[in-house]
Amino acid sequence: MKAQESGYQMSDSFLSVRNLNKTFETRAEPLQILREVSFELSLGESLAVMGPSGSGKSTLLHILGTLEPPSGGEVRMEGKDPFALDDAGLAAFRNGTIGFVFQEHHLLPQCSTLENVLLPTIVAAEGPDHEKRARELLDQVGLAHRMEYRPAELSGGERQRIAIARALINKPKLLLCDEPTGNLDRVNAESVGKLFLDLCEQHHTAMIAVTHSSTLAATFPKRMELLDGELHPME
Ligand SMILES: Nc1ncnc2c1ncn2[C@@H]1O[C@H](COP(=O)(O)OP(=O)(O)OP(=O)(O)O)[C@@H](O)[C@H]1O
Ligand SMILES: [Mg+2]
Repeated sequence: MKAQESGYQMSDSFLSVRNLNKTFETRAEPLQILREVSFELSLGESLAVMGPSGSGKSTLLHILGTLEPPSGGEVRMEGKDPFALDDAGLAAFRNGTIGFVFQEHHLLPQCSTLENVLLPTIVAAEGPDHEKRARELLDQVGLAHRMEYRPAELSGGERQRIAIARALINKPKLLLCDEPTGNLDRVNAESVGKLFLDLCEQHHTAMIAVTHSSTLAATFPKRMELLDGELHPME
């Protein structure tokens, strides 16, 4: 389908979401979680999404992360529909374009800090010196002195900073974060939140973080809220 026929207008935004709907088929009845969600995001821009538990924040991130297809509407990245790719194409696209940070750091316990950051490069195309970039990223997140430590020997904030470096190792254009500071105390949450914003600006990465924390959300230039499946701008 041509862009004009689908109503899609070309824009400068990296990410364009139009009239996104998501309905889960449950045993009882269809459950509509996202209703006509629309927004745009440019490279280097950061968006915080808030909303009550069960409002569909993680569902939205899974769709944007191409892990789950939408039921209706459009998701475009650089004007292209990732869901039009076949499975192998989509996996390659996801690995090269999108980074994820979750509430749980999901580090491998037997691997060092440096090895954990290098994990996503194992399936990446041959390319630049990954170890050099991993060391630079770990330096930027303040862990240059913890390269050879194991996750069990590190604090919660340090582990989450490794997860940030790991998410950025393949130079993603879009960073998706689900409650990235949910397991951290307030001081650590603030410093990790600031680190996210600084790194995304510096690396020209678009970022979406869903969070219950109004402290974290307040540091974002753009904030939206999911209520009854609809996404609204926040004051
Ligand atoms: N695979 C699924 N099948 C059926 N329902 C689902 C599925 N995944 C999620 N849901 C439902 O969708 C709703 C939204 O879930 P989601 O995980 O997106 O919420 P959330 O906003 O991230 O909540 P929280 O803040 O608690 O993490 C929930 O009511 C959940 O039960
Ligand atoms: Mg969630």
